[in-house]
Amino acid sequence: MSITNENSETALIVSEPTVTEFKSIIKDIANNANVLALKEHVQHVNNSRYSHCLSVAFHTYVICKKLKLDYISATRGAMLHDFYFYDWRNKHVEGQKKLHAFRHPRIALTNACDIFDLNEIEKDVILKHMWPLTIRLPKHKESYIVTFVDKYCATYEMFRFLKKNKHKNFHRHYGL
Ligand SMILES: [Fe+2]
Ligand SMILES: [Fe+2]
Repeated sequence: MSITNENSETALIVSEPTVTEFKSIIKDIANNANVLALKEHVQHVNNSRYSHCLSVAFHTYVICKKLKLDYISATRGAMLHDFYFYDWRNKHVEGQKKLHAFRHPRIALTNACDIFDLNEIEKDVILKHMWPLTIRLPKHKESYIVTFVDKYCATYEMFRFLKKNKHKNFHRHYGL
């Protein structure tokens, strides 16, 4: 099945960001059964991978729209940036934790391309979202925005967890 970004060839609308527009941009992705399955996977601490992607996508949408970038492609790419299904914290799989940061963008891109018909910006957003850890430079401004937003959201999610749990489960979550 191939799903296309129908908005990619229409002019980007210059107006204030709204939750309604955000939802319409990611509607087909957010309601796809495979993407919905990300709700069953833990991302950084106690939040689901789906909620992490949703949060990265929303912040990306607001910032890219304010900056008059291609906010549609950036938002759709951000929604798919962590589209993988293994537990990166699993100590029992050889090299899982060590290699995860480097290999999951490619896995996410492959999974996304199997279902959605992505444009160049969407692909670059997914593939380069771990930059500068993955050395190859992003090709688009939108990809740089997503790399920063992803790190901001990951940090926020971790501090929210630490505040809530007063550091109790932090070491257990990271297998330390
Ligand atoms: Fe990621
Ligand atoms: Fe992420």
